[in-house]
Amino acid sequence: MGNVRRGIQREVEIMSRSSDRHWRVSDLDIAINKILTSSIRVDKEKRREYFDLSGKYEVDLFSKYLNGDMTVLDFGGGIGRVAKHVAPLVKKVYVSDISEGMLELGRDVWCKGIDNIEWVRNTNILPFDDETFDFVYSLLCLWHLIVESMDLTHWVNECVRVLKPEGWFWYDMDFDRFIVVPGCDHIATIRKYDDGSDTICKLYRKRSK
Ligand SMILES: C[S@@+](CC[C@H](N)C(=O)[O-])C[C@H]1O[C@@H](n2cnc3c(N)ncnc32)[C@H](O)[C@@H]1O
Repeated sequence: MGNVRRGIQREVEIMSRSSDRHWRVSDLDIAINKILTSSIRVDKEKRREYFDLSGKYEVDLFSKYLNGDMTVLDFGGGIGRVAKHVAPLVKKVYVSDISEGMLELGRDVWCKGIDNIEWVRNTNILPFDDETFDFVYSLLCLWHLIVESMDLTHWVNECVRVLKPEGWFWYDMDFDRFIVVPGCDHIATIRKYDDGSDTICKLYRKRSK
């Protein structure tokens, strides 16, 4: 009985997180805590500094594939933890997210003044034409799509749809889960951290027509 109740509670929890409600935020430090789900008790300034460094660390892992002519999509980009460090390396970054609150904090606070980032709300599809982007990345996001709404396949397909032929797709996952990335070749898998955790990053390249 206990297991059944726990199972039901889990279902309810998942359903109640399955919309943008879970990601509704209006305060920078709350957003930072939600994104990194950090339980480390440090003061706000240190946590912000760590948050910033973590974004830089992410970009260092894939920056060699970026160049100044690229138009890039950060899918589920939150307040721009990563986009902030991608922006100086490319022509333009679009941050798309389901949460208006995250986008506002990104535009007005965390990435304020960076003029080559566009903030775009997505609902059920990505509001971009086919073959728009040279590089699409999604970090700390796909895992939530499995847990919260179970529509991972739909979103991976969307990311590939908006990618130009020969464009790149980079994502992370909590372990090396099998994900179909249609029309793309797998280029590389790397362990994201060297602390023994199972988080991996994968790079795919869309086939030319
Ligand atoms: C843990 S945060 C990661 C934010 C950012 N990628 C980063 O690494 O800092 C997950 C983000 O995914 C967004 N998200 C969740 N479901 C989404 C969906 N279906 N479409 C777009 N964004 C989504 C949330 O609003 C949230 O900003």
